[in-house]
Amino acid sequence: MLLITGASGNAGGAVLDAALRNGSPVRAMYRSERDAGRGPTGDPAIADFSDKASLSRALEGIDRVYLVCGPIPQLVEYEINMIDACKATGVRHIVLNSAMGAGRFTKSFPSWHARVEDYLRGTGLDYTILRPNGFMQNIVTYDAASIRASGAFYAAMGDTRTSLIDVRDVGEIAAGILGDPRPHLAKTYELYGPEAVSNAEIAARISAVLGTPVSFVDIPEDAQRQSMLGIGMPEWQVTAILELQEYYRTGSCAAIDSVVAGLLGKPARALDAYLRENAAAFRRDPA
Ligand SMILES: NC(=O)c1ccc[n+]([C@@H]2O[C@H](COP(=O)([O-])OP(=O)(O)OC[C@H]3O[C@@H](n4cnc5c(N)ncnc54)[C@H](OP(=O)(O)O)[C@@H]3O)[C@@H](O)[C@H]2O)c1
Repeated sequence: MLLITGASGNAGGAVLDAALRNGSPVRAMYRSERDAGRGPTGDPAIADFSDKASLSRALEGIDRVYLVCGPIPQLVEYEINMIDACKATGVRHIVLNSAMGAGRFTKSFPSWHARVEDYLRGTGLDYTILRPNGFMQNIVTYDAASIRASGAFYAAMGDTRTSLIDVRDVGEIAAGILGDPRPHLAKTYELYGPEAVSNAEIAARISAVLGTPVSFVDIPEDAQRQSMLGIGMPEWQVTAILELQEYYRTGSCAAIDSVVAGLLGKPARALDAYLRENAAAFRRDPA
């Protein structure tokens, strides 16, 4: 039986959907009854990474775990709690959701993920680590409201290119590994999307989908900082996002390779298809 943590989130939700499609026996872990009730599985566990007893209960009868936590400062502590609980309850394999840059970039989210990776490698448990690049879904999450309101989106990203990956591909890859982990023992996979695009190119692609102009505006980092603080984002999150962008601007997240297609056994999902599917999210609010 598989346990999929973070089932209410982007990555965990995608893994859960894919595992259910594969016909795997699955338990989905949520923090709240409300989210569990909305989820697609009939066998939810309610547990919290900060509550070790709840983790042991969620792991009863489980032999493989997909481990993901949101990008929050407690990520290291929480994921280590879960790894310890897995070890104590006899889980046989963990697929850990990490992030591009872990082990290379010593700040922001990648540095947090690296600490969990190192801990997991030292436990003696069987594992596979996934380091996805930025998700295509971030375009809707972070930029769609601004595009709807003003036909533009803003960031201190210059002409940096990033090979964004569709989180549904991450979900299918993780579910496939959970279904048969043997070929993936002790492997760490960096998951790049199928093409590297700049924000200006993303704006042009959205313009083409909508038939109306959309632009990307490169802004100074401090302007982005003030804007994020102004909408109430906490300081730690603003700093982590800006530091992550600093890593993107090195060009380190623009690679393209055949790893994702190889793991999927088919081509990775394309950015244009993602943008077409989500066209409604970018359409201007009626005046
Ligand atoms: N977004 C990207 O572009 C990207 C790219 C590469 C890697 N990543 C990494 O991928 C990870 C997941 O990202 P995501 O976009 O899927 O995040 P997300 O949508 O925020 O999902 C996070 C999940 O973690 C759960 N969670 C948080 N605190 C918890 C706790 N104390 N106990 C149990 N569950 C808890 C959340 O549950 P609730 O719904 O109850 O809060 C949610 O299901 C992050 O660590 C991020 O660094 C993200």
